[in-house]
Amino acid sequence: MSDDQTVMPRALLVPVKGILLPDHIAKGFDAVSAFCPHPSDILIAAYPKSGSTWTQEIVDLLLHDGDAEICRRAPIIERTVLLESTTRIRRRSGLDQLKEMDPPRVIKTHLPLHMVPAGFGENKCKTIYVARNAKDTAVSFYYFCQMTTFSPETGPWESFIQKFMHGELAWGNWHDHVKGYWEEREKRDILFLFYEDMKENPRREVERIMKHLDLSLSDEVISRIVELTTFKKMKDNPMVNQSFVPKEIYNQSISKFMRKGEVGDWKNHFTPEKAAEFDEDYEKKMKQVNIPFRTQL
Ligand code: A3P
Repeated sequence: MSDDQTVMPRALLVPVKGILLPDHIAKGFDAVSAFCPHPSDILIAAYPKSGSTWTQEIVDLLLHDGDAEICRRAPIIERTVLLESTTRIRRRSGLDQLKEMDPPRVIKTHLPLHMVPAGFGENKCKTIYVARNAKDTAVSFYYFCQMTTFSPETGPWESFIQKFMHGELAWGNWHDHVKGYWEEREKRDILFLFYEDMKENPRREVERIMKHLDLSLSDEVISRIVELTTFKKMKDNPMVNQSFVPKEIYNQSISKFMRKGEVGDWKNHFTPEKAAEFDEDYEKKMKQVNIPFRTQL
């Protein structure tokens, strides 16, 4: 552990409704559960490291007609709110932030669907879920957990993959998370995005998000949004690259928040044996659903 990270102890994981959450988030969970959104609020949900920040930036730009200056008005975590965030990682909790904002607010969550406050469904809030193939998500999560005190120590990569497979990481099991939103996507009108599709054809996916939000922007504005949300642009944008988060929370000298932004990085981390074991476990857990994930483009 670096000196910077000795300042703040690492979070512990605590079960809530069968899902492991960082202890500080678990403590505030009842208040989060009781949160009632406005019908115009927009929910962006994702398992950690699936492309939620990317989606948040696209949505903020769409809501502001692609105006780059307006979308640099504040760090992404101030413009769009992580519902369950607490004062351990932010100046104010997500709930306190929301009190000071007027709807429509862009609200992000990593909670599995069964833990999302009921008001989002009751008020028919526009909902977007972004999913990323399990192996790339695991790799990205591993680097993230190394650089943040938000997570317990990762241990070696091999044991981290086991924890990922068995739902022993924060926000629980990837498989159940993705299945929960997938199975409800029609009933709840959830726009289900894939990170890989966003990489392959960002314009098409930006247009899908726009339509889901009942917006209609010119071709020129859409092109600008696509350009402003490339990995390179976001990596260099201090309002999204999380350089504003104190070092004792995100130590980006260990790994950047905007790390690689690629599809298929898992190939640099999984041995053929580990990939086979992972795939076998995946088949068992995902066999009842047919979610068209791609692990390469
Ligand atoms: P990597 O660690 O693989 O680079 P989240 O925002 O849900 O935490 O997801 C973070 C992951 O999305 C990181 O993946 C990050 O680099 C990637 N990401 C963020 N913005 C991106 C963009 N504009 N294009 C591609 N990937 C992006």
